[in-house]
Amino acid sequence: MISAIPRGVTLSARLVVLVSGSGTNLQALLDACADPGFGAQVVAVGADRDGIEGLARAERAGVPAFVVRLSDHPTRTAWDGALAAEIRRHRPDLVVSAGFMKILGPDVLRDHTVINTHPALLPSFPGAHAVREALAYGVKVSGCTVHFVDEGVDTGPVIAQAVVPVKWDDDEKTLHERIKSVERELLVEVMGRLAREGWTNDGRKARIGR
Ligand code: GRF
Repeated sequence: MISAIPRGVTLSARLVVLVSGSGTNLQALLDACADPGFGAQVVAVGADRDGIEGLARAERAGVPAFVVRLSDHPTRTAWDGALAAEIRRHRPDLVVSAGFMKILGPDVLRDHTVINTHPALLPSFPGAHAVREALAYGVKVSGCTVHFVDEGVDTGPVIAQAVVPVKWDDDEKTLHERIKSVERELLVEVMGRLAREGWTNDGRKARIGR
């Protein structure tokens, strides 16, 4: 499948960014989008919980936000449908899962192209405790992966990766912070290039550009 945001139709790609926590990756995207040459704009921020810094960042930036809590829905399927409907209202060209700590369901994935950022070099250490597990394994390098989301857990086609050395005295916090500073740059670079250059994705291998 070859995809691109149609030239001349969308001058600036519309991004909906999903968050669950501090939202520093979201902030990096908001900052990058201030430059019209970046080629993308954050049109909405979605969250699965209230009271997080990610939502405060959206408010400070004047970007609309929505919250869809799993606990407000009778089933995961109903939550997925409600989340998909909220996302759809903002007509995104791309959805970014940037520290969103829930597995996205079929309704969201059928309607949208979703990109996730993960704090490890996939396919090593998928899931919610990637940094802890990489440290426990004793790897000498870890890093981050930006990938298209499929129905699995961190299994979708890789778009870009960056390597971060692991230090002898790292703990989960120090390593995660070092990864996150690289991750923010990688995510911004990838999202800008996807918006400007399109992408190619055969369901396993992906690259930026058509
Ligand atoms: C990132 O490392 C992301 O990959 C992981 O959680 C972190 C989110 O950080 N899933 P932030 O909320 O963007 O600061």
